[in-house]
Amino acid sequence: MYYHYWYYKRQGVQSIAFPRPVIGTQFLFMKSCMKLDQYSRFPHIEYWHEHFGPKLPKIFLDFRSPCGAIIVSCPKMVNELYVTKNKYFDRHYREKQVGELVIGDSILFQKSSIQWAEKRKHISTVFYKERLQMILNTITEMCLKQVQSWKQTFANRRDISMDINKEILDMLMDETQVCVFGMEYLYKKFTYLENGSLVEISVGEAVRRIFRTALRRLYGPIRELFEFCDHFYLTDWEKELKTNVTNFRVFLLGIVNERREAMLKPEFVNNGDFVTLLLTLDLFKNDDKMILDECVGFMIASTNATSLLISNTIYYLTQFKAQGHLNQIRGEFKKVFKRDNFQDLTADDWKGLLNFDNFADMPYLSNCINETLRIDSPPISFGIELTEPIDLLGYKILNDHPVIININALHYNDEEWQEPNEYIPQRFDPQSKYFLTPAGKKRHPISFTPFLGGKRVCLGKTFAEHITRYQLAIILSQLDFEFTDQHLYDKKPKNHAGSGQPVYSAYITLQN
Ligand code: HEM
Repeated sequence: MYYHYWYYKRQGVQSIAFPRPVIGTQFLFMKSCMKLDQYSRFPHIEYWHEHFGPKLPKIFLDFRSPCGAIIVSCPKMVNELYVTKNKYFDRHYREKQVGELVIGDSILFQKSSIQWAEKRKHISTVFYKERLQMILNTITEMCLKQVQSWKQTFANRRDISMDINKEILDMLMDETQVCVFGMEYLYKKFTYLENGSLVEISVGEAVRRIFRTALRRLYGPIRELFEFCDHFYLTDWEKELKTNVTNFRVFLLGIVNERREAMLKPEFVNNGDFVTLLLTLDLFKNDDKMILDECVGFMIASTNATSLLISNTIYYLTQFKAQGHLNQIRGEFKKVFKRDNFQDLTADDWKGLLNFDNFADMPYLSNCINETLRIDSPPISFGIELTEPIDLLGYKILNDHPVIININALHYNDEEWQEPNEYIPQRFDPQSKYFLTPAGKKRHPISFTPFLGGKRVCLGKTFAEHITRYQLAIILSQLDFEFTDQHLYDKKPKNHAGSGQPVYSAYITLQN
């Protein structure tokens, strides 16, 4: 710890504080966590800013864990990591080590290797145009059905309101589950152990709860300080997690085997789901563990981030309705889809309207989605591991501790973004004055990096962009949201990946 402290101090790299033996600066982090409320940013972001103030140094040291981590908040340095130094850039091993039981060797946490690259190449075929279209058709049908159900339950009523966050997440969980396993398993229940009791939940909900508990295990102070604990399940809730994960994988294996048998039958119809795809690929078809790892990885990578993006976009459009963003988006729908009313469209009508190309003519919708991704990026920071020591724009960085890319700082950098705390979709419009930095220059491209970059760039980026646009088109063309609580207009309770989700309660009216 002290070697790292002095090694970096000599290069002018500041540390959060002088670390204490064994506990480093963990005590400062815990102290900072006690001040968090519903409007706070992610705990470690608040803790960094508490120490350094509103503007973080472009590179600094944090000793929440004994070996310390280097935090990088400068677009030029991150660009260097994505491009010139990308061959030394890898996923940090700790997440895989802690999450091994849950996610195994899924490409999501696996270190870069020939096998990882091979798997990534094969899995990316799921997002080829025709296959992607099949998945998007399924999502279109499910989203429309959900909107119809919301209309029946909530529309034009003041005695009942809809929690945007919960409803979107439930919908996304069902959709992802269907994309992975097919429609026939949507209502299949898994028996989950919670606080000593057994509860019946959907596959999507099981993945969500397992992922959330696994994150809690990963980011707790015990594992920040004592790495050897990664291999043990210590508390009652950790032991429950282990039981749930073991049972869940047996349960999923049953689904995979059923599908394998079904595919042998002449009447089998391929609906384009992920399990069926993996069972047709030579690399995967005879390896159950590999199939399970990727199915769980797909669900974890896809559900939370996309659901946060959709519900946060609806939130901002409702919060800032007076600024006319929603009107502009609806104007684009009317122009591109060539109709004024969307209430009675069938799933087939929507499938005819929604296609890859026509969203190019809806720049305002894309700008709003990007602005949500900037201001509320689902990944707030990302820990990488260097495979060799590197020179990062003059700083000599060692490879025996994590390097954390501070996405939050890049997205709020006031040298790159005008009024960074404001929701201004026009900053993605090349014609707008907000497209430029406060100094009137072109913005550094790495100032916006919600999907990461380099060889570990999000594999589902295009998929995520499409499902978000498709579903926002179906929802926003038909429904209008009005918050039940004035406070929600004043200030947005933060909605982070991995934390408990706030209630975004709204009345629904039909849009005409
Ligand atoms: C708004 C939505 C999304 C955002 C912001 C996002 C962001 C990211 C980021 C930052 C990474 C790199 C870090 C990491 O591995 O965690 C990543 C990786 C990944 N994402 Fe996404 N993602 C989104 C949606 C999706 C979707 C819908 C899928 C679909 C399956 C997906 C699949 C993946 C996979 C497989 C990886 C691992 C790639 C690798 O390391 O080889 N993501 N995503």
